[in-house]
Amino acid sequence: MCGIVGYTGHQKAVDVLLDALSSLEYRGYDSSGISIFEGTKIDTIKSLGRLDQLRERIDSQKKVFSGTCGIGHTRWATHGEPSDVNAHPHTTKKLSLVHNGIIENYVQIRQKLQADGYKFVSRTDTETAAHLLDRLYTGDPMGAIRQLCSFLEGSYAFAVLFWDHPGEVYGVCKGCPLIAAKGKEENFLVSDIPAILPYTRDYVLLEEGDLVKITADSILIQDSEGKEKIPNVQQAQWNMEQAQKGGYPHFMLKEIYEQPKALRDTIHPRIVDGLPDFAIEDSIPDGFWRQFDRISIVACGTAWHAGMLGKGLIERLARIPVECEIASEFRYRSPLLDRRTLVILISQSGETADTLAALRLARESGSTTLAVVNVTGSTIAREADYVIHTFAGPEIAVASTKAFSVQLAVMYLIAIKLALAGGRCQPDEARSLIHNLLEAIEATLKVFDLDSAIQKYAQSYVELKDLFFLGRGLDYSLAMEGSLKLKEISYIHCEAYAAGELKHGTISLITPGTPVIALATQDALLSKTLSNVREVISRGAEILLLCKDTFTPESELAGKCILLPALDDLFMPFVGVIALQLLAYHTAVFRDCDVDKPRNLAKSVTVE
Ligand code: M6R
Repeated sequence: MCGIVGYTGHQKAVDVLLDALSSLEYRGYDSSGISIFEGTKIDTIKSLGRLDQLRERIDSQKKVFSGTCGIGHTRWATHGEPSDVNAHPHTTKKLSLVHNGIIENYVQIRQKLQADGYKFVSRTDTETAAHLLDRLYTGDPMGAIRQLCSFLEGSYAFAVLFWDHPGEVYGVCKGCPLIAAKGKEENFLVSDIPAILPYTRDYVLLEEGDLVKITADSILIQDSEGKEKIPNVQQAQWNMEQAQKGGYPHFMLKEIYEQPKALRDTIHPRIVDGLPDFAIEDSIPDGFWRQFDRISIVACGTAWHAGMLGKGLIERLARIPVECEIASEFRYRSPLLDRRTLVILISQSGETADTLAALRLARESGSTTLAVVNVTGSTIAREADYVIHTFAGPEIAVASTKAFSVQLAVMYLIAIKLALAGGRCQPDEARSLIHNLLEAIEATLKVFDLDSAIQKYAQSYVELKDLFFLGRGLDYSLAMEGSLKLKEISYIHCEAYAAGELKHGTISLITPGTPVIALATQDALLSKTLSNVREVISRGAEILLLCKDTFTPESELAGKCILLPALDDLFMPFVGVIALQLLAYHTAVFRDCDVDKPRNLAKSVTVE
């Protein structure tokens, strides 16, 4: 995820900015850059790659930065591939600007600015904000920033230098953190606490919509109406490691809690007039979604489970046949592919060897390939014919959580888009599905209220050796994800079964005390799943049921249910998966496992 640092004071800004940016490296980034006031000029340098590459470029260009005020940025690409030109800061004749977040309506703003003669050099949403601010600026930085915000939709934190205001750093935030920190004859503007810890512990957390101006000896904060606020100075208590995890004990838990934001960032920019719109993927042509009579979804691990759910959604809504296959199987079975087949590759990292091989095979076979990828500029993103980026930000924990949710959300958009294109649903029905999707995204927040209840169930799993997950339909795919999550981080052996299949063999393993987690979130299948639950209870299973909070449990299930916020059946996976992730996480913590780096596993599997 991108990192922002702004500095003004008595030290050489280049040293402070590079040092502070390096303490944000853990967040993941693919390029970096700085802008520094040198006298009345602003000098900018940027580089693709690690901070060391930026340092080397500064040396090789024999740049001497002696200024004491500047801004810096580490970029984790979302709009536009990682490159020198897409790196921040973005500069104009009047200003230099860095940005965290996503500007959802940048396509429309960019088109208007281009029509008025503005020239764009990058593919980023950020450059749009830089040009728009340049246009609005007439000498009053705070006024221009306030106006800028009135045009922008989405989430953002900006740090800005104006050419005619040396020694001053300006900022604003909405939906992304921004922190002003108070040093001795120096002040800071950063996106994350770790960046300031070597210098000061006194900071002010800006509130939604706040604007800020820092000079070497002052911090001025205004609300969105322009009213001055008294800074509420707090003291950072965390050490560097705690600060990097945002106060969470593990990256996995932090990433579980980041899901509502990741979902909004991924979905909101792709809804226009209440309908799915892939305009930000400007390479996907209009007629694209009408071309295919078969779809193959290919992925590994958790991404494959998102694909399984995607298959269910596309078949149900668009009535197009879909296969969903594990990449390592797909690539060696001579799959039937032709140009009427759309092959969708799903991958968080965009580097998974088997998924990449499947992509190459699909292309060689004449199929069209569409990648759903989280890491911009990754090999899969580069080689696929078309790409839809998920905007989860970097996922650091090996266990995939937020990446799954955003992959799933994109599958809903694809399913609805295909249904519309194929005449399987009318715009009004599509709008109502999108409404449900947005409602589901907000409902994910409510699952966190269940965290302590889930923790108690997890505590009872500490000594377990084996466990079964059951589910039907979408719940079966979700059961597979719940099972994978639990086994990979807690090392408990788990199996996921289609609830109706158990009696064809596996039920022989159910003996008194066998733990079974049953997913029954689908009203349409509830009575069937409950029959299977009764079958295992009558053989002595210890059941835990995940169901809607509208369900009234019968006496034998009382006290054995996790009641999830009720949504339309189709959207229950969004809330169900978070409960399963929390269950896996707490179980692993109680078992004293290395949650973020489970044994034998790598975050990105680049070998067969
Ligand atoms: O980067 P990818 O999404 O292609 O990775 C696929 C799998 O390796 C990944 O989902 C893996 O299963 C995770 N450890 C699951 O939590």
